[in-house]
Amino acid sequence: MAKINTQPPRGTRDFFPEDLRLRTWLFDIWRETARRFGFEEVDAPILEHAELYMRKAGEEIVDQLYHFELHDRHLALRSEFTPSLARMVMARQGALRWPIRWFGIPQCWRYERMTRGRRREHYQWNMDVWGEPGVAAEAELINAAFSAMDAMGLGAGDVRMRVNSRALLEETLRERFLGDRPEAFEPLCVVIDKLDKIGADAVVDQLADPDGAIRLPKPDALDVVALLQVGGLEEARKSAPAGSAALADLERLFALLEAYDIADRVVFDASVVRGLAYYTGIVFEAFDTGGKLRAVCGGGRYDRLIESLGGKPVSAVGFGFGDAVIAELLDEKGLLPELPRTLDAVIFPFGDAERPRAQALASSLRRSGQSVELVLGQMKPKRALADADRAGAERIYLIGPDELSRGVARVRELRTGEERDEPLPEGPA
Ligand code: HAM
Repeated sequence: MAKINTQPPRGTRDFFPEDLRLRTWLFDIWRETARRFGFEEVDAPILEHAELYMRKAGEEIVDQLYHFELHDRHLALRSEFTPSLARMVMARQGALRWPIRWFGIPQCWRYERMTRGRRREHYQWNMDVWGEPGVAAEAELINAAFSAMDAMGLGAGDVRMRVNSRALLEETLRERFLGDRPEAFEPLCVVIDKLDKIGADAVVDQLADPDGAIRLPKPDALDVVALLQVGGLEEARKSAPAGSAALADLERLFALLEAYDIADRVVFDASVVRGLAYYTGIVFEAFDTGGKLRAVCGGGRYDRLIESLGGKPVSAVGFGFGDAVIAELLDEKGLLPELPRTLDAVIFPFGDAERPRAQALASSLRRSGQSVELVLGQMKPKRALADADRAGAERIYLIGPDELSRGVARVRELRTGEERDEPLPEGPA
């Protein structure tokens, strides 16, 4: 048989021990941050009902779905966590303590075109608050994202959160451009989200496409793109409709961020709208200030998602924070930790006669919490020593015929070379 391809499918990763140590380090920071913010961990199957993801606003994420039919069921690998969370909240809607604070670290699958930090699978830390309509929830979430970044060693100047309000954009557009076609708003956001990627001309073309879902007259399409250039909250105040509730929310959010002492890391940016159709209010995305990478994390308020899935309305807000982009950034900054393997002891019985007492010693050390590798085969003592060193063990316990007769193990500290005898525990009678 021809040798199989030893690489994993394109865009996916194997996690060898050193990779998994790094992943665990990152997940531990996410988990610990979530714990400090009082969030509980949840999970859901990686395989979902495909209909959960089948939205019609032209989102990239829908085209990228890994999905298939099996025994008359239409299934999909989850491309994001939010729809599963919505399903779970709906399943227990009458029995939950509100507001819900849930987090998860799901692996998500998207058939992406691969670029730096963009893969076909990634792990994504999700933090979501369900049942809180006020922006105190947004402030808490943005603070949590920065707390995790601080714990990774990033500095206050390394990442900026760009914040906007889809509600503000909607108010403005309804008044001036969309009139009686509110259904055009979601696809419009999906198109605007591509601005950085495809450029202003292409966005205008798509907004004005007579066969598309938005169909703005060309001058209006140009005006909409110009609106996105509004820089800073000051300017937004001038262009917002009078008495705008969305603007008031934004102002309140910035005041709350001030109290967390992170306002200087957050900027208003009218061009951030997010590429997912379900957002309804504040939206935010964090970028490295070097401007080299795609978004480190992104989220926002999605008060109508549950309704769109047939449930009773519940307000919700959250974010997703991927493992791939942050790893690139930490690598660039020299912040990825060195995480060597840790092993307390190797136990080496010279032969079969010494093995039972070696097993008893291994059991005793393991009961006390140590990580212990018991040499399983036959080898020369010199080779066992070199191998223990290579494994990164702290010490090796050598048990030969002489040690066995004296009821001890010869212990060698591998860092210092210091040696001593230690009594062997009795084996089972
Ligand atoms: P998203 O913006 O699609 O949002 O993804 C969130 C983050 O996941 C991105 O900022 C990025 O770090 C990472 N990410 C996404 N796709 C990829 C990829 N192909 N390769 C590597 N990293 C990726 C959502 O998924 C929303 N469901 C987040 C959310 C939660 N909104 C509310 N609650």
